[in-house]
Amino acid sequence: MRILLINGSPKGVRSNSLKLAKSFIDGFSTEIGKTEKIELEELTLASMQIGPCKGCFACWKSTPGICCVKDDMQSVIGKIVNANLIVWSFPLYYFNVPGVLKNMIDRQLPMALPFMSERTDGFGNGSHDSRYDTSKTRHVLISTCGFWTAESNYDSVTRMFDHFLGKNNYTTIFCGQGELFHVKELSERTNDYLSVVKQAGEGFAKGTISDEIRTLLKAPLYPKEKFEAMADASWGVSKETGGKEPEDLIFTKQMAVLYNKAAYDGKDRVLEMNYTDIGTSYQILLGKDGSKVITDSSLTSTTKINTPFKVWRAISQGEMEGSEALGKGLYNVTGDFSLMMNWNKFFGGAQAESSAGSTSKSGAENSVGNENGKAGLNSNNTKGLKNPSMMTMLIPWITLWIACAINPKTGALITLGVCALVPLIMGKHRFVIWDTLSLAAVAGLSVASNITGNGAFFTNIGYLIFGLLWLVSCIVKEPLCATYVKYSYGSEAAFKNPLFMKTNYVLAAAWGILYVMTAIWTWFLRKSGFETLILIINNAVPVFMGIFTGWFQKWYPAYLARGKNKHSGQGKKPSSDSQERQ
Ligand SMILES: Cc1cc2nc3c(=O)[nH]c(=O)nc-3n(C[C@H](O)[C@H](O)[C@H](O)COP(=O)(O)O)c2cc1C
Repeated sequence: MRILLINGSPKGVRSNSLKLAKSFIDGFSTEIGKTEKIELEELTLASMQIGPCKGCFACWKSTPGICCVKDDMQSVIGKIVNANLIVWSFPLYYFNVPGVLKNMIDRQLPMALPFMSERTDGFGNGSHDSRYDTSKTRHVLISTCGFWTAESNYDSVTRMFDHFLGKNNYTTIFCGQGELFHVKELSERTNDYLSVVKQAGEGFAKGTISDEIRTLLKAPLYPKEKFEAMADASWGVSKETGGKEPEDLIFTKQMAVLYNKAAYDGKDRVLEMNYTDIGTSYQILLGKDGSKVITDSSLTSTTKINTPFKVWRAISQGEMEGSEALGKGLYNVTGDFSLMMNWNKFFGGAQAESSAGSTSKSGAENSVGNENGKAGLNSNNTKGLKNPSMMTMLIPWITLWIACAINPKTGALITLGVCALVPLIMGKHRFVIWDTLSLAAVAGLSVASNITGNGAFFTNIGYLIFGLLWLVSCIVKEPLCATYVKYSYGSEAAFKNPLFMKTNYVLAAAWGILYVMTAIWTWFLRKSGFETLILIINNAVPVFMGIFTGWFQKWYPAYLARGKNKHSGQGKKPSSDSQERQ
């Protein structure tokens, strides 16, 4: 299989369209490569000498089939004639192909016979037959354009290729918002699109591109309004004054554009970006109608990110993990931390708005955590099971503590029955080690309680084992609670998030100590005959601990994120003195 990739972008290898073309060829070659040898040749027209056609018809009259202009085009015709697949990769220029490509197309005149012939496809009037049999060559046109959609912008292109290659004799992939393909901050979204293009290549190799893939290919990368605001900000020139804008302001404006107003929760927020290395500060007002960048620090910030510009940009470009950088103290956050915890919801929501669906890194999308963005997605889920639920682990323990305490024999049987039912009740969730260990421990304790009739003793041993499970989890890679809640924080990526890990280690240790202590005081109180007190304390303490956990998991990451700057900053008017910026 000989593939000829014609890169018709004047930008040469920096072409956006070329990225799509390469993804397509990648998919195509993967599929075809299973049975055939692939030979790929790439022509970068911008770096070749291909002058315009002189219109002398020498290639028809004096030297049939041979052009009188001696340049790189001499070798190109042979490659075109021999190719099995030609991928035409080019940008849209003034609603048509760029000049370099048009020159190359014009210079294909030697490939045609001079004699007038009738078209057989009923399209247009008049034609010239080819000197060569190229009827089996497959053609794909791949192009990006600058407007938000390719829809209705390629009519001149398709009109020309209909005449040139024959109507229905080629496949097209036209994509709007082409300039986004070189914006690193948006690479998650553009890479998503490129993977769809690759799938199109695979489909094309098998015969046809499916309707599903076609629909995804047509979906805009970003919604029109968002893209146009981003594009306008990208030129680095103020829309109002026409003057040049600094790089950090352009960056902040583009980040602000990614704000997802659908995430508005009735609370206006002011996010202050304080770039400590360059001493500038911008505020982004996040409201119900969208976002706005304020340059005069006139608002009261609700969340303030103190970061070197280069750090924030590296995070945005995916070169650095946001949460890791925060954990290392490379930046800090003061004020309302809920914005950071829900970053994905506020700034990564392009997925929800774009029909193709994706995310984008608007700053620290991979930042400190995300309670909503990817929460609920059953990541790592190979068997269609839901993420693990802590209830799987808790149900057996709670049953043991209540039932065996009331009646050691019957209660133990009830507990055993519940243990047997847990796989049914919680069967939709994936089971983790803590679920299995808990089921085994509770079943063993129930049997012991039933045989000995000593429910009090074995429920107490239960407290001890339960506490030890939590404590043991503190010395392994994943603290017990993290096993269940990590899915709301990017699954395995949560392990790289020091805030998440520290919070979970502290909580696991706290719960472990609490239950070991529970076992100890229950033993002493029972010996002293304070049965009622045991009942009150042992039921009240976990409730308070539950409330504490809820508070701690919000407060502690925020506390850590403030770094050395432990004062809240919330509600404070941002200071303009550089002291604070350092
Ligand atoms: C001279 C010129 C003309 C352009 N004309 C159009 C146009 O008519 N419609 C459009 O949507 N984009 C237009 N664009 C934008 C390009 O098509 C867009 O930037 C494309 O992604 C560039 O692709 P490339 O990187 O593969 O060259 C034009 C760009 C230039 C430089």
